[in-house]
Amino acid sequence: MAHFEKANSLNEWFDQRLGVNTLQRVLAKEYWIPKDINFLWAMGMVLAITFGILLISGIFLLMYYQPNVDLAFDSVNYTIMQEVGFGWLWRHVHAVAASVVFLIIYIHMFTGIYYGSYKKGRELIWISGMLLFVAFSAEAFSGYMLPWGQMSYWAGMVITNLFSAGSLELNGVVEWIRGDYVPAQAFLTRFFMLHVLLIPVAIMALIGFHFGALRLPHVNNQNGTDIDFEEEAAKYKSGNKAASKVIAFANDFMSKDMFVVAVYLVFFFYLVFWNYAFAMDPVNFDPADGLVTPAHIYPEWYFLWSYEILRPFSKDIGLIAFAFAQVIFVMLPFLDRSPNTVPANRRGLFKFWFWAMLVDMIVLTAMGKLPPAGIFSTIGLVAALVFIGLWLVLPIITKLEKKL
Ligand code: HEM
Repeated sequence: MAHFEKANSLNEWFDQRLGVNTLQRVLAKEYWIPKDINFLWAMGMVLAITFGILLISGIFLLMYYQPNVDLAFDSVNYTIMQEVGFGWLWRHVHAVAASVVFLIIYIHMFTGIYYGSYKKGRELIWISGMLLFVAFSAEAFSGYMLPWGQMSYWAGMVITNLFSAGSLELNGVVEWIRGDYVPAQAFLTRFFMLHVLLIPVAIMALIGFHFGALRLPHVNNQNGTDIDFEEEAAKYKSGNKAASKVIAFANDFMSKDMFVVAVYLVFFFYLVFWNYAFAMDPVNFDPADGLVTPAHIYPEWYFLWSYEILRPFSKDIGLIAFAFAQVIFVMLPFLDRSPNTVPANRRGLFKFWFWAMLVDMIVLTAMGKLPPAGIFSTIGLVAALVFIGLWLVLPIITKLEKKL
């Protein structure tokens, strides 16, 4: 047993037992953030806050939701929406947050791509980020099953069918995932468990990993300056804050972050109170019916780009293209062969690659929403081919890039 002096304050008492002052120093007071960053670097904090909103609103919904195929639809659409006081508010908060979180994730991802924040030393930040993307996708999909409406049922049917692996016809796998021949009670119960327990726990662990991966390499900055953090921190600590290129995470940077979070929350609650409908599909206000297939089955807006990569091809090629789209972003730090960690606009052909990828994914998203017919299906096919082509040329164009 170590020797303990009598503590003179509560803080000292905790510090003796948990080392809270060391933790605070390492994680906040002496965690150095470059000055040269813009509001886009607040998106990580915005994401963390939005995840918190999803957790809290989810806990309230969980108090009345019934994971039973005969009761689920009514427990959401009548009990929560009409009978429980402010149940509608928690549902709208949850649905809007689930949609907006993807918008912010895409902004956060493309910021990382633009500034090269996935390069040397930061690979694990990127990889943990992509794992978070996958986990959020699974969380959104499993949550979509829970109201047990027409889109829940049929999206569940279509997505689980993908596991038959096309011509391989692995139907046993599909039934194993569903726990039945079609989506039914076993399916709902297991997706309920995934949504409220396993995936949220995995997301929390991954956020911890993501933050941990950030601590040593530090965040990047908007000019790609290679900062000597120890030297700059020494200037800051000696009182020469103006000359230092860094500021402390707490409270300096946090106060800036919180300003962006506050502006975001105004936008968020504007959507919750006045424009929530975009976050809910009208077809899902009909109860699940295994005998009536909806005319068009499409996913939520944030999955449309990858859905459109699946759709224009024949069954097997489509599946391969879809699988490619799911994993290829993880490989970015290894496919980008250039050593330059600078903004895309200073990087030769990569500048065009970045904008082409962004526009192509927007086109894929728009086409994914439209019925696959006529000119739209041709545009969808071209956009899907461009997506694949862009990834194939990436190692070549970045290898050719001049070292800055
Ligand atoms: C929803 C979960 C996520 C949370 C809570 C989160 C949080 C954060 C935070 C707080 C930062 C530091 C400040 C900032 O740059 O914003 C950060 C940085 C970063 N994140 Fe995420 N992130 C998430 C998802 C992602 C995803 C999906 C990616 C993409 C693969 C990603 C990639 C990165 C990268 C590359 C950085 C480093 C930025 C830099 O060094 O300048 N993150 N994240």
